[in-house]
Amino acid sequence: MTQQKTRALFRPYRLGELTLGNRVVMAPLTRSRAGEGFAPTPLMAKYYAQRASAGLIIAEASQISQQGQGYQDTPGIYNSRQVAGWRQVTDAVHRRGGHIFLQLWHVGRVSHRQLQPEGGQPVAPSAIPAEALTFVDGEFVAASEPRALAREEIGGIVDDYRQATARALEAGFDGVEIHAANGYLIDQFLRDGSNRRDDRYGGSIDNRCRFLQEVVAAAIAEAGAGRVGVRLSPVSPANGVSDSDNQSLFEQVYDRLEALAPVYLHVIEGATMSSRDYDPAFDFNALRRRFSGTYIANNGYNLELALQLTGQDPKALVAFGRPFIANPDLVARLQQAAPLQRLDKRTLYGGGAAGYTDYPLLSDPA
Ligand SMILES: Cc1cc2nc3c(=O)[nH]c(=O)nc-3n(C[C@H](O)[C@H](O)[C@H](O)COP(=O)(O)O)c2cc1C
Repeated sequence: MTQQKTRALFRPYRLGELTLGNRVVMAPLTRSRAGEGFAPTPLMAKYYAQRASAGLIIAEASQISQQGQGYQDTPGIYNSRQVAGWRQVTDAVHRRGGHIFLQLWHVGRVSHRQLQPEGGQPVAPSAIPAEALTFVDGEFVAASEPRALAREEIGGIVDDYRQATARALEAGFDGVEIHAANGYLIDQFLRDGSNRRDDRYGGSIDNRCRFLQEVVAAAIAEAGAGRVGVRLSPVSPANGVSDSDNQSLFEQVYDRLEALAPVYLHVIEGATMSSRDYDPAFDFNALRRRFSGTYIANNGYNLELALQLTGQDPKALVAFGRPFIANPDLVARLQQAAPLQRLDKRTLYGGGAAGYTDYPLLSDPA
């Protein structure tokens, strides 16, 4: 590879109307540190500002309604208090020259009654329990038994995504990412292991894609296609999802998204936070060719893989998740090929500054 190509990772990139400083993306990372009313706090603003040298930050998954929440103390984006909290975050990131999208989340069946309005059942395409854990009262517990969404409820959830998009823009985000990955509500609709509906939202692949399409179309109607991205995890078994024919399903998903033209697809290649070769028969490259917009690749990337991909593919960015937790100045570290700090697993979810805003920078005195 020429020197120019090996450095492509660190060059500016035009994403919609934005010019990103480089092609390194901070992946969305749930840290369960929201404050009262599930509103973002000044500590969260500090955390994101420390990471503003990423070309693009995708802020942690944020529930679009109380029903959409699955873990304790995750932030919301469904009322004005939460909007005000997020405004501190986006202002802090923009002051440092960064760009930030918000990931919009409805967990579907991956929730617990304790987090649901009036202690009700979590909702899902079909009444099939998730083989998954949620996080309440400081510990991981089994997800509660879900109920199937009535046909008339689905439009209301699509509208929640639309409103959440409007609120995210009001809070100063540069755009939103629709979380259609990791076994949450949209992914539950896509897969035949969790979607056994016999109405227009279930059965054929066409029908199973409908909810995703409606959500993405609603977000685009609110924000414009240049400010909406979509996250997918085609082969990941995260939160107990499965499908009898992932390749055909995701070919159609990509074709639908190509028609709607969100500004990027963000794809978890392999099993989330685990093997990149989880399903060796699945052809990510063939899928890639079906979408002409920006491709954000994720899962287990290191400097070498990131340089290789961005050197070859002028429309690819690379998202890093775990490395951004322990390395707020990840871009500088990658640029200098400096060693990366290891994350402390005990402080991932919940708590305060420890293991959150106290990881040292390269430039800190030793
Ligand atoms: C603590 C933690 C929280 C996460 N939260 C989210 C999230 O809110 N939304 C999401 O789509 N993925 C989430 N993920 C997955 C990451 O975005 C990413 O896909 C995964 O860590 C693989 O990338 P990496 O190998 O660079 O870490 C989370 C991962 C970790 C470790």
